[in-house]
Amino acid sequence: MDETLGGGATAVARAHSNIALVKYWGKRDAALNIPAVGSISVTLEALYTDTRVTFRPDLAHDEFWIDGSRSDATRVSRVLDLVRARVGHEQRVVVSSTNNFPTGAGLASSASGFAALAVAATGAAGLELTDRELSILARRGSGSAARSILGGFAEMHTGVAADGSDAYAEQLLGAADWPVSVTVAITERGEKSINSTVGMVESAATSPFYPTWLDSAAEDLSEMRAAIAARDFARLGQLSEYNCLKMHALMLTTRPALLYWNAATVAALHAVRGLRADGVPAYFTIDAGPQVKVLSLPADSAVVQATLALVPGVLEVRGSTLGPGAHRLA
Ligand code: PMV
Repeated sequence: MDETLGGGATAVARAHSNIALVKYWGKRDAALNIPAVGSISVTLEALYTDTRVTFRPDLAHDEFWIDGSRSDATRVSRVLDLVRARVGHEQRVVVSSTNNFPTGAGLASSASGFAALAVAATGAAGLELTDRELSILARRGSGSAARSILGGFAEMHTGVAADGSDAYAEQLLGAADWPVSVTVAITERGEKSINSTVGMVESAATSPFYPTWLDSAAEDLSEMRAAIAARDFARLGQLSEYNCLKMHALMLTTRPALLYWNAATVAALHAVRGLRADGVPAYFTIDAGPQVKVLSLPADSAVVQATLALVPGVLEVRGSTLGPGAHRLA
């Protein structure tokens, strides 16, 4: 047992999920989990993970509990090993997480989960890290988790350093700086998607669009940065749809094809276009799963939610404002 740490050192953290407007798909370093393209996201108030980390001198292995069930700790232990290396001891921990939304249903639980783990584990270990260091640590668990360290609008950098020390996310605008609403239409429950790590490797290896995806990323990022700086919602929305469909074109041209959509996904896209035809500025985005996330201005969120709820195959609709960065609860 480490003398300076003591058994039972504990911390609790909350991190919110995030949705990318300019997407991350592809890695420049798989071992260090460094993205091949930058990304820009919004952090969501309504969806979050709470995680408690407790150091336990009596344990031989880390224990990971999620929503009350024991789960495989392999990925969690990889992040914990980095924290242990930093403080120079071997003590194992109990990690206990709860999501206030369905786990693994395409609602970015790995983003909120690994961001909460980074804050809780370093807190329990007595480390005081900067947001940049926390973002780098969260990235080792899941690329999108690097962005959930920050609230509001966040940009993830690929960096150029071989060790990933400049591959981190930073805030572009705070949640209160530009209120935007996100409505999530759930079209399927359960974990059916192809894991993103596997999918990214397959896209890089087989899609003829992959080089174009890499080459065109910088332009999308700079245009999105400009749209956010100017608070230009139409530009932000159009670019979000374009970048999302470009990522799905890459996925569809992967061998074997990564087809994440179901019939209700497509019906929801048409419903969003129908809203726009009726004068409601609403724009969709979709990740590696069948759920549809819709961006709107807060004044239109009620009509967006009501419209999506009527789409055949949409099981549930959740609205969210933009939320804060990951933080300690105890
Ligand atoms: O962080 P991961 O490995 O779950 O990958 C996230 C990939 C997308 O959700 C499809 C895009 C993104 O930038 O979040």
